[in-house]
Amino acid sequence: TSNKTVLGIETSCDDTGCAIVNSDGVLQGDALYSQNELHVRYGGVNPLVAYELHRNNIELAVNEALEKASINIENVDAVAVTTKPGMLINLQVGVKYAKYLARISGKPLIPIHHMEAHALAARMYEEIPFPFIVLLISGGHCLLALVQDVDDFLLLGKSLDNPPGEIMDKVARRLKLKNIPEYAKVAGGRAIELAAKKSKNMDLFEFPLPLVRFRDCNFSFSGLKDSAIRKLVKKESEHRVKGDEIIPEVYDLCASFQYAIAEHLAHRTERAIAFCEKKNMIPATNRNIVVSGGVACNDFIFKAIQVIGTKMGYRIFRPPPKLCTDNGIMIAWNGIEKMKKNCNLVKDISFKDIDPL
Ligand code: KG4
Ligand code: ZN
Repeated sequence: TSNKTVLGIETSCDDTGCAIVNSDGVLQGDALYSQNELHVRYGGVNPLVAYELHRNNIELAVNEALEKASINIENVDAVAVTTKPGMLINLQVGVKYAKYLARISGKPLIPIHHMEAHALAARMYEEIPFPFIVLLISGGHCLLALVQDVDDFLLLGKSLDNPPGEIMDKVARRLKLKNIPEYAKVAGGRAIELAAKKSKNMDLFEFPLPLVRFRDCNFSFSGLKDSAIRKLVKKESEHRVKGDEIIPEVYDLCASFQYAIAEHLAHRTERAIAFCEKKNMIPATNRNIVVSGGVACNDFIFKAIQVIGTKMGYRIFRPPPKLCTDNGIMIAWNGIEKMKKNCNLVKDISFKDIDPL
């Protein structure tokens, strides 16, 4: 097979990413301008702030990635870019720049679905044959799917309300974790993971397991979030905390909350495996699960999935942290996978091809 090189661009949420990857899965150069720290300060993604930063950073990111790879845009075989899902104005920044690059170099474009890119990222480093189960968990998404081919995904379940990263970010903020210097600069979910490690009693707070009576693979996290906030408010009033003060049980609350999230994720993953086996969708020779997205960086949660997967005879894969969170590398790699399958090379991407959903 001839060696191809793809430049990938990602701007669907709050990260401006660009990377150059070749057919062998070698990362030749990448750049990522992350707005996470800024959003920690503002308490959430502000779409207009994100848009402004994508606009300022897209050219820098692309030039930096090309420079690290020591190539020009003429040396790549195609330009891959996220076209869905995401915030329209943000997606447009990436697509517009990708179209500009395609125009000046005469190279084709490859439209990329952000979730599919997350799902396939693990294949850049590991040989994971189709079909496999994927669990995508981040601040913006939560889904279980069966990946049957590069362009063939069967959705098994999704969150009926918030994604797990979002509730971890909200609860971390409400717990005022960023007032603890060690956690001031990390994402909410990471702050909860670190704080949970300091707990001496993770059974102090009890959370009910969501959707236990439903035999499907959907998720629900809003109940866990509300429950955590109710427990916090109760403790705040018991201790009469004011202003920036933090409840003494903060570590135990983080640990119980994280345990409940892990338990729910593991439970639904177990359902997904059972469903696929019942329908004979996965050959006994390749029972594999990929866990990805920002929340997959959480070792406690990952281990919970590992325990359930191993019990059911599955191997569990997780891409390195840099590939779990939003990045340009997975977009470029998805472009490579699509080129290998001869699908989706286009001359132009029109406005109606850019899609929030
Ligand atoms: O994939 P990502 O960079 O962006 C999207 O949300 O699409 O994921 C960011 C999310 C945030 O909600 C953040 O709190 C969460 O991933 N996160 C974590 C950890 N590191 C990041 N959640 C739990 N444990 C972590 N160690
Ligand atoms: Zn993402």
